[in-house]
Amino acid sequence: RQQESQSLYQLTEKAAEFYREKLKDHKISTPAITYLKNRGLSGAICKEFGIGLAPPGWDNLLNQLGTSAEKAEQLELAGLTIRRQDSDGKTEPGKRHHYDRFRNRIMFPIRDQRGRTIAFGGRVLGDDKPKYLNSPETPIFHKGRELYGLWEARQANRDLKRLIVVEGYMDVVALAQFDIRCAVATLGTACGEDHIQLAFRHTQELVFCFDGDRAGRTAARRALEAALPHMQDGRSLHFLLLPEGEDPDTLVRQIGGERFDTLIDEQGRPLEDFLFDLLGEGINIQTMDGRARLSKAAAPLLDLLPKGVYRQLMFQQLARRTGLEQDMLEEIIAAEKARS
Ligand code: UTP
Ligand code: MN
Ligand code: MN
Ligand code: MN
Ligand code: MN
Repeated sequence: RQQESQSLYQLTEKAAEFYREKLKDHKISTPAITYLKNRGLSGAICKEFGIGLAPPGWDNLLNQLGTSAEKAEQLELAGLTIRRQDSDGKTEPGKRHHYDRFRNRIMFPIRDQRGRTIAFGGRVLGDDKPKYLNSPETPIFHKGRELYGLWEARQANRDLKRLIVVEGYMDVVALAQFDIRCAVATLGTACGEDHIQLAFRHTQELVFCFDGDRAGRTAARRALEAALPHMQDGRSLHFLLLPEGEDPDTLVRQIGGERFDTLIDEQGRPLEDFLFDLLGEGINIQTMDGRARLSKAAAPLLDLLPKGVYRQLMFQQLARRTGLEQDMLEEIIAAEKARS
């Protein structure tokens, strides 16, 4: 098992090297270089993140690294190639068994906490679909447990004052381009508890900065729930909500790194404000019915908080907003728990 993983790490690293070489190959790289330049990325930043190019064609990587039947199998295991299937779902005899998963895409290597390349995200150069293609789960890649950019952030700065959690690869790299070297992204999945725990292992302060669109707001709500059980005293969590249509990449390119930092400091909403705003949406707290609805909605969420001063303060806050005593709130929690 361990030996298998070892060779997968090696193979994935070799693939990363292959993609990087292709980005330097003038015969094919011009459109990719132009694309990256147009997105404001310098050669130095691309190098830091190990960005590469998967060339067009079905078997470039396969021909380079899949030189034996055994190697070809490993490429599949690493998620880098896909097994050809006929309409019955069986492999057709006589044909080449595999083809390259990533074709004609900008390649972002995903590194684990030790800097080993474990997977890739690949972006199309134009408007094709899907816009991003990610490696599947493999024996060395579990996307629910990795944060893109964490290793790079740690390389740039060992004591991370904070981590900014964003949605996309491009957001991480664009922020780094503007010298904000503490952004990390989940990998095409929602931000879950494992992501939060991993991030809090490296810093006490998280800032969620998702896209200013419906998907971003949904992501923020889910991230909030995932974070609540991990809000030990001393940790802090903020939400920076972006204007409609913007993401961290488009915004930092408009306003620059310093103003982006200031924005986080000045406009980042603390967890408590964000949570009560969210819960209070569409509720008129002046009415008794409104206060009842707020208590019912808030109590089970606050109950996710670990024991500590912060939890007490949040319940106090809810008590103040609803006019209920704290032991009444406890009763509501118990009742809601019994119901579900
Ligand atoms: P976005 O669509 O916001 O991506 O999706 P983005 O990074 O802003 O894209 P561009 O390059 O600036 O246009 C956010 C993240 O969701 C995942 C990717 O991880 C992406 O970075 N995603 C998105 C996918 O996995 N597949 C997709 O087709 C689209
Ligand atoms: Mn596993
Ligand atoms: Mn988006
Ligand atoms: Mn985006
Ligand atoms: Mn974007």
